Amino acid sequence: MVNNKEFRGLEDKINELKKKRKAVILVHNYQLPEVQDVADFRGDSLELSRIAAKTDAEVIVFCGVHFMAETASILSPDKKVLVPDILAGCPMANMMNVSDLRKLKKEHPKAVTVGYVNTSAEVKAELDYCCTSTNATAVVNYLKNEEEIIFVPDKYLADYVSKQTGRKLILWNGYCPTHIKILPEDIKREKKFHPFAKVMVHPECLSQVVALADVALSTSQMAKYAKENEATEFIVGTEVGLIYRLKQDNPNKEFYPASERAVCPNMKRTTQEKILWALEELKEEVKVPDDIRQRAKKAIDRMLEIV
Ligand code: 13P
Ligand code: SF4
Repeated sequence: MVNNKEFRGLEDKINELKKKRKAVILVHNYQLPEVQDVADFRGDSLELSRIAAKTDAEVIVFCGVHFMAETASILSPDKKVLVPDILAGCPMANMMNVSDLRKLKKEHPKAVTVGYVNTSAEVKAELDYCCTSTNATAVVNYLKNEEEIIFVPDKYLADYVSKQTGRKLILWNGYCPTHIKILPEDIKREKKFHPFAKVMVHPECLSQVVALADVALSTSQMAKYAKENEATEFIVGTEVGLIYRLKQDNPNKEFYPASERAVCPNMKRTTQEKILWALEELKEEVKVPDDIRQRAKKAIDRMLEIV
């Protein structure tokens, strides 16, 4: 817990208003500690979309980035989905727009289209299947009878999935600007400092980084692995915000960031103050228009059916 009087005052106000608004606060694993502290649910992209789909709250305050709030709106159209900072976007999701995808589909008319959840709702509406880092391999394995598969927008996740499944995938040149800051030399250096540590990295990392790791996992899979593995030291190759949760869950274990440079500025835009404003003003609302929503939902539902 962040032990600061100012935050405690804000936390009390947030909790009070949250009840009045019948709101639930969903928080991604990369958020600031002060934001993680007021979460009703904290998790990875897949877990948070599942919770968004089944919560009976009237208001969802989504502390993450824009595509995550859109996914919540797609799954829960009758709820008010709020983001504390409307400018918190995902640069990777912005690397592909709907005309890019339509063009790629035209070039490969026989291909089935799989898209990472880190895409806009408009792009999701053009997909056959959605996936997250937790289930990307399972989704591609499920498509074993398909001749050609388009996988967008993350070329590094695609490379990881391709190696796991033995499938050649049609790619897009997208990537996460935060995860590519983790370099192979960072992993080599940390391994030298901590020779007994297990190395866990996110599949959004560079392929050479994934090759040096013991495991490539989504953020919540990392949380589970760290809890269940008997190792007591871990080198963490993902956005540094996850370390707060890892330390809270495992006070007797040590976690070393593979690189202190792996900070996602968009994930850090949300603060307790902004959460309070969102609850006070019921703003900013993220609402996906119905025609896009219905088409995008099909791709998400197909993913949820597979896994
Ligand atoms: P997960 O938490 O689903 O692994 O996602 C990582 C990420 O980069 C989200 O933007
Ligand atoms: Fe997007 Fe990367 Fe930030 Fe995740 S960490 S929100 S993929 S830029």
